[in-house]
Parts: sequence; structure tokens; C-alpha cells
Amino acid sequence: MKIADVVKDLTEKIEKKEQVSLSFEDVNPAINKAAFDLITSSLATQDLHYLNDIVFSIFIELINNAFKANLKNVYFKMNQISMEDTDGQKTAMEGFRKNVLEKKEFYIEPMIRAGLYAKLIIDFPDGESIRIQVINNSPISPLELERINMRLENAKKIRNIMEAYDQFSDETEGAGLGLIMNMMLLKTSGIGPENFFLNNTGMETVAGIRVSRKIHRPDYVMEIERKILEMLKDLPTFPDVIKKVMDMCDSENASVAEIAKEIEKDPSLTANILKLANSGGFMGQNPAKNVATAASVLGINGIANMATGVSVHKLLANRFKVMAGFWSHSFQSAFYTREAVAMLKLDIDPDVAYLAGLLHNIGKVVLATIDPDTIKEINGLIVDENRRASSILEEITLGTSHTSIGGQMATKWGFQKEIMESIEYHHCPFCASQENQKLVSLIHVINALIKKESAKGKMVFIHEGAKSMLGLLKEEAVESFHWNLQEKYGDYMMESIVLV
Ligand SMILES: [Fe+2]
Repeated sequence: MKIADVVKDLTEKIEKKEQVSLSFEDVNPAINKAAFDLITSSLATQDLHYLNDIVFSIFIELINNAFKANLKNVYFKMNQISMEDTDGQKTAMEGFRKNVLEKKEFYIEPMIRAGLYAKLIIDFPDGESIRIQVINNSPISPLELERINMRLENAKKIRNIMEAYDQFSDETEGAGLGLIMNMMLLKTSGIGPENFFLNNTGMETVAGIRVSRKIHRPDYVMEIERKILEMLKDLPTFPDVIKKVMDMCDSENASVAEIAKEIEKDPSLTANILKLANSGGFMGQNPAKNVATAASVLGINGIANMATGVSVHKLLANRFKVMAGFWSHSFQSAFYTREAVAMLKLDIDPDVAYLAGLLHNIGKVVLATIDPDTIKEINGLIVDENRRASSILEEITLGTSHTSIGGQMATKWGFQKEIMESIEYHHCPFCASQENQKLVSLIHVINALIKKESAKGKMVFIHEGAKSMLGLLKEEAVESFHWNLQEKYGDYMMESIVLV
């Protein structure tokens, strides 16, 4: 049976609030996407879809731990190391990390042959709350269970994510940090850390959460939310001229000349568009002197998207203190995204891709105004071995994220759906609607690759599903794609210096 059919069957059961189970032979993009769809459908039964990203992030941590436990089990058996032998285990663990975690694919087969499994079970114990469990049959040892329970107790005393990193980042397996982050996420999201469970049933390890409709977010999170709402209320409306240009583009009757004339009524907008068009590598060697010339090269939609981009730039710069490096990251993302459309032969409008790349992080500007110190610290933590996106780190600390705020800004400004989804879901590409998943995946991958450039060789989180959506199946393909982009951007930056 194809995985899409399995998901369809299971989704129908979830809608009737029946128990479903999904087995994992491996953690790969297709099965992750299936798990995401099932979790989404189950949360939707209680109108809790806004918790998708958070619950999925907790699930990923649990399924990875379940797999690690099974792999460890099979590795220890193959090397005849007793799970009870504490001294022997220490040395064996070093071998495990080196031999197994980096070459997982060689151990999947023996793991299946040994009858080891990991599965996701979703059910509705009282007809209302949703129970999401990850079960594997390498039972956790009583000693390990005790150690974890002690950590969970400690987690209650940890006040912020920086403290968690300080205490747990040097842990051998990083499992401690992952667990603590889950606890904090449960607290800020209002699901509640008391709804997390981890048990040994004798034959299996059962870990999971119970999500009920009673969401109690802590007071400090409510306060942040209130401040954000106020700030969004004060956000200036989008300039009328842009709205008019957008309408003209949609009407199909307007000509390039008419649109150019409309834009030129606003001298500062005109100047900014020309500046962007001439410096953005759009015009080649012949800089445009007026909007009509720029529009003849960029097309009607190209010029309208550019007008949107420069207007957002101006609105944000007038109202907020935009942090250093924000526009250079945005501009680099926009450049990469547009180039990537051609490079990967994607059926995406390159102008839309450019605008999505330019605007994907606008929520950061508002979030940084609310709590600049925390955001600065979170940005320093982007290197995350536990596979957490920056938006999840924000959720853990502040109970909201730049993606959710950006989504609200895009709604207020009436952006087109593909741009809105790129802003709101670029850290959770699965969350995007079917028709925009490719564009959102592209923004996700590009954003991560650019972060990698400054992460000094350390790991940056990229969704496997997003990469495969773009046809980037192997790590070498991602690397050569990135290398090509860097080279093009380097050439372009050199050219701009020459033009100046
Ligand atoms: Fe982002």
C-alpha cells in the first residue's frame, strides 16, 4: 500500500476519533511527512491546529530517541555488550556514536531482522484530549529511567533556554537537552509539562504527550502576546499606491506604461525601485533610468513585487530599529531564491520567489523590538544538534515566533497567499498548503544554507522533506547546489562593487 493511501485511511479513522498506529522502519522524509499529516489531523479535531509545529517538533525528538534506543540495542547485541554492563557501555557508546549514528543505513536491516520497531500511536482517551505516543521495544533500563526522571525534575527549575544550553549542551548524547527543551516548549505553549509521560512497560518504552483543549499559557507569555498585538495594531497600513498597482496587475487590462505612471506618482517609491532594480542584478549592464524601462525588463508582476519589497523595507525602517544584518540576509536570500528557481528548474515564478526570499523574516523585526536581548541570545543558538529551528527556540522562550508574527503582518498588509505562507511556514514547510509547499520548502532550504555560511561548519537544521521536495536527494547535491549559489552571489557582489 502506498504511504499516501495509508495516511488517507488513518486520517479517516482520526476524524472518527479512533486509535491509529504508524510504524517506522526508518526516519525518512516520506514517513515524517505522514506523521506530520496525522498529528495535524488529530489536533484539528479539537481546533488546536496552531500547535502543529510545536507538537511535531516534540514528536521528532521522541521518534529520534526511540530509533537511537533500537540502534543502540542492535549494536550492543552485535558486539555482545551487555546492556547491564555499565563500564563496558561507556567505551561501547563511543563506538556506537562513531559507527552507528553516522552510518545508520547499515544498521537498519539488522534492526528490523531483530524484530525491533518504533511506532507512532495516536488516540483519544476521553474523546476530547489527544494522546500522541511513540513506542519502541528496546525497554529503557530502570537506571536510565531514574536518571531521566531526575532531569525532568531539574527541568522545572530551569528558567530560560540559555540556562538549558549551559547545563546540557556538553551532554554525551544531547538527549538531556532535547528533553529539557520539550519540557519548556510544553510550558510556554500551554500544553503543560505535566502532560508529558515516559514509561517502561516491561517490553516497551512508551513516551508521549497528552494535549487537551485546556491550554494554560504562563503569564509572561500572555504579556508578550499582548505587547505583540498592540504593536501589530499600530503597524502602518500598506501604501495605497502599492494596493492600486497590485489591483492593476490583477485586472490584466493595465499596460506596463500605465503601471509605471502610477508608481512614478510616488517619487520616493520610484527612487527606491530603481535603486533595487539597478543594484539587484536584474538589469544586467544597462541600469534603468525610469520605472517604465525597469518594468519592460522585469515585467508587470516583477515590478509590482519589487514595489512591495521596497515598501516593506520603508515601513519597517520608519517604525522599528531594524537589527544589523537583517537586510543583507534578506537580500542574499532573495538573490539565492531567484537563482535557485532556474538552477533547479522549479515551476515557481522567479519574481514571487525573490519577494518571498526578501520578506520571509519580517516577523523578526517586530519580535526583536519586544525582547531584543532574548532574541540576540537565541540567534546565537542557531547551531542546534537537536534539530530545532530558530522559530521553535523562540516558542520555547517567548511562546511565540518570528514566523507567527510575520504571518500576522502579512495578513494585515494583504500579501498574496504564497508570500504569506513563505513568511509563516518557512521553518515548517509541511505546514504550508499543498500548492505552496515547493516555494516554502525552497525558502526553508535557502535560509538554512545561508545560516550555515555563518555557523562555522556546525550543523544547521534543514528539513529532509524540504530538500527532497526540491529534488535535492543526496547531501552532495545540496552541497554543489549551495556552492553554485555562493559562487553566483560572489560574482554578483563583485560586479556591484565595480558598478559603484
Ligand atoms: Fe526565519
